[in-house]
Amino acid sequence: MNSPGSESDPLPIHSVIMRIKVCRKMKQDGTANVRSFLHLCFFFAGKEMSMENVTNIKQEALSRLEACESLADLQELRVLYLGKKGPIQDLMKSMKDLPKEERPAFGQQVNALKQALAAAIEDKRTVLEEKEINERLQQEKIDITLEGRKPNLGNIHPLTLVQKEIEDLFIGLGYSVEEGPEVELDFYNFERANIPKDHPARDMQDTFYIDMERLLRTHTTAIQMRVLEKDSPRTPIKVICPGKVYRRDDDDATHSHQFTQVEGLVVGENIRLSDLKGTLEFVARRMFGEKRVIRFRPSYFQFTEPSVEVDVSCHMCGGKGCPTCKGTGWIEILGAGMVHPNVLRMAGYDPEKVSGFAFGIGAERVAMLKYGIDDIRHFYTNDIRFLKTFTRFE
Ligand code: DAH
Repeated sequence: MNSPGSESDPLPIHSVIMRIKVCRKMKQDGTANVRSFLHLCFFFAGKEMSMENVTNIKQEALSRLEACESLADLQELRVLYLGKKGPIQDLMKSMKDLPKEERPAFGQQVNALKQALAAAIEDKRTVLEEKEINERLQQEKIDITLEGRKPNLGNIHPLTLVQKEIEDLFIGLGYSVEEGPEVELDFYNFERANIPKDHPARDMQDTFYIDMERLLRTHTTAIQMRVLEKDSPRTPIKVICPGKVYRRDDDDATHSHQFTQVEGLVVGENIRLSDLKGTLEFVARRMFGEKRVIRFRPSYFQFTEPSVEVDVSCHMCGGKGCPTCKGTGWIEILGAGMVHPNVLRMAGYDPEKVSGFAFGIGAERVAMLKYGIDDIRHFYTNDIRFLKTFTRFE
C-alpha cells in the first residue's frame, strides 16, 4: 500500500505550495534554520505521510530535546514541534489526503507521537527547572563567613537604672508599684496633701498650670493620695510610686524644672517612726553600702507629722568629711514622716486606729551620688557621651 507521501506517489500540489510558504515565513521570523531544515527534509525525501516519517520526527524531536539546556530552548522546541505550524500539525492536516481506511491508524500514530512528545517535554521541563533553581542557589549563596555589622545597642538611662534598683528593693520587701498621672488635679497634688488653696507652702511648689483645676504634679505625693483613696479604708497599704514631677524653677547644676521621685507609703495598725527608720536604713545600705548609717533631722511637710529629713553617712569618706558631703560626713537623701492625721481622715481612715509612714526619694540625687554626676542637667540633655558611660544591664 502506498501512502500519498511515498516516492511513487508524489505530494499533492497544495502541499508543496504550503511547504514553500511555510519556509518563507520561517525565514522572515528567523526560525528558518531548524524548522525549514525539517520541512525540507520531509519534502525532498517525499515521505510526508509515512509511518516511518512519524518515527523520524519523534527521534529527531527526542534527540533535540535531549540537547536542550535551558527552559528557553525547551519552549522553542515545544513551539517548533507542537505548535500550529509544526510538523505534527502538518501531518494531521495532510491526513485528509490518505485513503479513508488508512486514516485511523495514521491518526493514532500521530496522536501518540504528539502525546509522547508533550510528556517528554514536560519531564524535561521539570529537570530543567530544578537545574535552574540549583544554579540560582549556587549563584545567590550568601557568604556567612563575612562579619556582620554590629547593631548599635543603647544603654539604660541612669535615672531608669536608679528607679529600677529602688523598685526591685521595695518589691523584695513586699511593696507593690503604683503610678499616677503627670497632669494631676490640684485636689490630689495639694488639697488632699493637707495644702489648701491659701497655704504658703504652695509657693515652694509652684508649677505649670493647665487650668484652675489641673497642673503638672509637683511631687509623687499626689500618687500617695490617690492610693489612699482607692479602696479606702483598706489596710495594710505598702506601695512605692515612682514618676516624673515638675516645678517652676530656673535650671542650673542642682535644679531642674523636671525631676524624678520615688514615693513610699505604708499604712496599717501600729506603724511607727521606728518602722520608717528601719526601712530607710535597709534601703540606704543596699544603695550605698553595708556600712552606711542614717540619721533623722526634724523637718516640716504639710502631709506628715512628725516630718524628718533623712541623711545617710557619706559613702565617699565614710563620714570623715569630703567634698561630696561638703565636709559634714552626711548626705541628705530624702524627706519622710508619719502620715498626717488630716491626710488619713480626708481619705476616709480613722487616725485613731491606723497610722502610716511615707517618704519621697529624689532619683536624680541618688543617681548623682552613686555615679558621681556633678550636674543635674546631664540627665535631660541626652548627650550620647554621657549616656554611654552607664553600662547596660539586662
Ligand atoms: N513630697 C515631698 C517633696 O516633694 C517629699 C516628701 C517628703 C514625700 C515627705 C513624702 C514625705 O512622702 O513623707 O518635697
